[in-house]
Amino acid sequence: MTTESVQQPSEAQIAVHWREEEYFYPPASFIAQANGTDPGLFDRFSLENFPECFKEYADLLDWDAYWHTTLDTSNPPFWKWFVGGRLNACVNCVDRHLPSRANQAALIWVPEPETEATAAITYRELWRRVNEFAALLKGFAGVETGDRVTFHLPMVPELPVSMLACARLGVIHSEVFGGFSGPACGGRIADSGSKILVTIDGYYRGGELIDHKAKADEAVATAREQGVEIEKVLVWRRHPGVYSSKTPMVEGRDFFVDEILPEYRDALVDPVSMPAEAPLFLMYTSGTTGKPKGCQHSTGGYLAYVAGTSKYYQDIHPDDTYWCFADIGWITGHSYIVYGPLSLGTTSVMYEGAPTYPDPGRPWRIAERLGVTTFHTAPTTIRMLRKLGPDEPAKYDYRFKHMTTVGEPIEPEVWRWYHQVVGKGQAVIVDTWWQTENGGFLGSTMPALQPMKPGSCGPGVLGIHPVIYDENGEEVPAGSGKAGNICIRNPWPGIFETIWGQPERFVQTYYAKYNRDPKSTDWLDWPYLAGDGAVQAADGYFRILGRVDDVINVAGHRLGTKELESATLTVEEIAEAAAVPVIDELRGRAVEMYVALKPGLTPAVDEIEAKVTAAIEREIGKIARPKNVWIVPDMPKTRSGKIMRRVIAAVSNFTDIGDVTTLANPEIVESIQHKVQAAKLERGQSPIELTPEQIAEIQAFGSVE
Ligand code: WTA
Repeated sequence: MTTESVQQPSEAQIAVHWREEEYFYPPASFIAQANGTDPGLFDRFSLENFPECFKEYADLLDWDAYWHTTLDTSNPPFWKWFVGGRLNACVNCVDRHLPSRANQAALIWVPEPETEATAAITYRELWRRVNEFAALLKGFAGVETGDRVTFHLPMVPELPVSMLACARLGVIHSEVFGGFSGPACGGRIADSGSKILVTIDGYYRGGELIDHKAKADEAVATAREQGVEIEKVLVWRRHPGVYSSKTPMVEGRDFFVDEILPEYRDALVDPVSMPAEAPLFLMYTSGTTGKPKGCQHSTGGYLAYVAGTSKYYQDIHPDDTYWCFADIGWITGHSYIVYGPLSLGTTSVMYEGAPTYPDPGRPWRIAERLGVTTFHTAPTTIRMLRKLGPDEPAKYDYRFKHMTTVGEPIEPEVWRWYHQVVGKGQAVIVDTWWQTENGGFLGSTMPALQPMKPGSCGPGVLGIHPVIYDENGEEVPAGSGKAGNICIRNPWPGIFETIWGQPERFVQTYYAKYNRDPKSTDWLDWPYLAGDGAVQAADGYFRILGRVDDVINVAGHRLGTKELESATLTVEEIAEAAAVPVIDELRGRAVEMYVALKPGLTPAVDEIEAKVTAAIEREIGKIARPKNVWIVPDMPKTRSGKIMRRVIAAVSNFTDIGDVTTLANPEIVESIQHKVQAAKLERGQSPIELTPEQIAEIQAFGSVE
């Protein structure tokens, strides 16, 4: 059994002076049109009305058969929602909108090159494309209900088409973020046991047509090494008819989708009516141990949850032009570009490329041209746009009514820029806290009913009852100023069902810590452990401090220290490696690698740095590229030989190193500190002023070791 425990926030995290921010209130114009204006909603979703309250979300969907049991707790913590119910996710996102809005755009796709035309895909056209690709998957690729199919696709409309085609067939899709490397994709193929890989020849990013098909060959090779053979690689082409990759197509294995699709022209495929608890998709994410976890999301519970939260928290109306500027390769895109918005029948915008290409005015030009009403992105993008184009939003004539931030804590100054400059003081902001595992939002404010507070996500959302526990399982009261582990008291329909193929790890990682009785079938005995540190203000709003396990959140992407370290250890000269987060002005957190070389080696520093960077890019992807690589004579270690990541994290962040007297080699710390900090100053990376939250995070990092 894998053990993944979450360590306690350090003493220093306790009793820090948390500055309270002021409230901001929604404008009357927003309230007048909002979906959630009835304060009675909070009562309807109170714990007393649990779990039946979630019928309200499930009723937003069309069911083929109604459920008989709202929540089945007989096999805890493997909760089952809406048992007995049957539905098809594709029908709910596409077919059911045809009578009322066949010719409304379901998706508007904005290619990165501004010379290329924007493509609007109506609900009817989407229905056609999804049916045709589903027919191809079934007829040509031979997939069957329950099979897994891996996608390695960037932000092109073929991605939602492929997802919905799988959903139509009851096939479980597993999309791997396009920016991940071939080997990273291959590992996920092997874990899920997919026989089919769907990819594309290339896509535009930062002005370049990237050769993406090359990664498919590496992915197939890695999967094979891990015992899984891909039978067919289906290659969409960015420009149908023109192949833009340099890698040859493999005879009998690789096929151009645009060459086969004509055989399925106008084909219709009957949607498969799926049990509510049937898996809809897998989404891999990082945890404390090396192997990424395939989070298994259900059909009925998941779709109900994303529809409900899209309605009340994203305030989505069918006539909105809704733009979630995230990547569908992450959970945010699955839930809030594809499944949530389309289930509500709105128009969802997708943008192919980089936020600042060709200049930092690009997002606002898109917003102006398309008349975007609702805008959703991550703090890292906001920070970048603020830094590179602080005055750009004012130059464009758009008007957002609603904006979202997701994925990382947002600094109050950045929040204020988002509010005043991007939102022009007229848009509400929801700061949505949640995770890949959760399906949809956990903490946020209901925009017309609860004021915003910069830097805090807000209270639990409808039907979500968070609590902060200390190490002993005692509740940390609101307003105490103390931080602890944020947990959710109750199950909810969007919670993932298990880790694909690793049920023990699922129980161990998320439930074991605060479970009161492993035999209990009372859900109250099974609080869900999120793995984040948090503090709750007297008003009930939560401030999320960040991960308390060994996960580094780089620009909103979760990277496991173990994954970074094992990639680094593929470099022959390296004996030991440790990854730590460093607070970064733009990316939130960046990765720094500490490495110790095998004895007797004295290779050039630059050479080692380059090799480590290349290894990480190859094994994981460019997003994980380290900011610095430090060669050290030895790592600070406990007497039992564990690397003390918290100590080197303090060095990298110029924070207090704390007590190191219990280390096996305390003398090493000073020399590392001296060397690394001097080198940082030389590289122009001078210390930045950290908030109490950031200091607390660094001090707590990795002390599980
Ligand atoms: C962090 C992304 C502060 C948190 C949806 C969580 C946040 C991890 C917020 C999950 C937020 C997410 N404020 N921190 N609004 N949203 N996080 O799985 O540490 O990619 O555990 O899901 O991101 O990242 P994931």
